[in-house]
Amino acid sequence: MKNTLGTGVSVTLFGESHGAAIGAVLDGMAPGIPVDEAFIARQLSLRRPCGRISTARAEADRFQIVSGVFEGRTTGTPLCILVPNEDIRSRDYAATRALARPGHADYTAYMKYHGFEDYRGGGHFSGRITAALTAAGAVALLALRGKRIAVGTHIARCGGVADREFSPDEASDIAALNEKVFAVLDENAGERMRDAIARAAEAGDSVGGVLETAVTGLPAGVGEPWFDTLEGLLAHGLFSIPGVKGVQFGGGFDLADAKGSQYNDPFYMENGAVRTRTNHNGGINGGISNGMPLRFRCAVKPTPSIYQAQDTVDFLRGEDARLELKGRHDPAILHRARVVADSVTALVLCDALAQRYGTDFLRGERP
Ligand SMILES: Cc1cc2nc3c(=O)[nH]c(=O)nc-3n(C[C@H](O)[C@H](O)[C@H](O)COP(=O)(O)O)c2cc1C
Repeated sequence: MKNTLGTGVSVTLFGESHGAAIGAVLDGMAPGIPVDEAFIARQLSLRRPCGRISTARAEADRFQIVSGVFEGRTTGTPLCILVPNEDIRSRDYAATRALARPGHADYTAYMKYHGFEDYRGGGHFSGRITAALTAAGAVALLALRGKRIAVGTHIARCGGVADREFSPDEASDIAALNEKVFAVLDENAGERMRDAIARAAEAGDSVGGVLETAVTGLPAGVGEPWFDTLEGLLAHGLFSIPGVKGVQFGGGFDLADAKGSQYNDPFYMENGAVRTRTNHNGGINGGISNGMPLRFRCAVKPTPSIYQAQDTVDFLRGEDARLELKGRHDPAILHRARVVADSVTALVLCDALAQRYGTDFLRGERP
């Protein structure tokens, strides 16, 4: 579907970067889930730009829940969240309207919408829309919290600097990450990443990297064997995050040179539960969760909008051109996108859990 993710539990996104507001409609979510608005605000603040390593666009991200919540809990009917756009400088974009930013969606948007698209600030393709996804995802994260399922993402690589791996006790790492604005497990690596981003920004350039997500508490048996594999559902959602160009589960592409004896995850029993000693398969076998933590990575490209002169085309005139960009852009996306990865993961898992156990599985108890 065009702007909708999920079936049983679905989220629909709407809005443009420089329009009046962006927002999300969350449908099929179970009734009775406590909707902690302070938590939603906190999640939005984790996505907001921060200092020298982010865009200068400063959005307050004041949000308004216009339906689907009554007396602090989900009603089970469509939940609509509006996030007004406040810090808009549309004049930055008029002069370069037909100069396609290399790596961005200006040209493809024009081809799809025949010039009727709102091109200002990337329009519907802007990273700004992920604020709405984050707000809806916060409700999904609260629903999962009720089932003791935790989601956390760290910046595994950025600008050529690597964070440490998740420890075998992902749960404590997740708890720590969810308190951090710049989500790394090793603060020294985080400092070097921030320096790499700042150096790229000074040079009018940008950097990319890798996000890694872990999920604990997901029961075994969630997912489908063929087309709606848990990997397939998650990848479908994760690829909708602007800038994500690769998704791998467990060892992913690193398995190319491994042997079966190294890559298999041997099973064992622990207090009556089936577990695996390693987790190279990222907690999924045959498209179905095996009860171990989910582990997957997203490759996030360097931000396409850079301040160095680039070759491009003027697609209205049909001629070659040079682009010298104005506007306000992130020299890296990762530190803002990590909370978007958590949100998409939570939305997909709520949907998969609803498919397996029914929508009411996630419902809150009456106070
Ligand atoms: C939180 C977030 C912020 C972003 N900020 C910018 C930005 O300031 N400038 C930019 O060119 N791209 C930014 N992007 C990435 C673009 O939206 C994305 O590269 C573009 O829509 C093209 O999509 P694709 O890279 O998936 O092909 C951002 C993405 C996210 C998730």
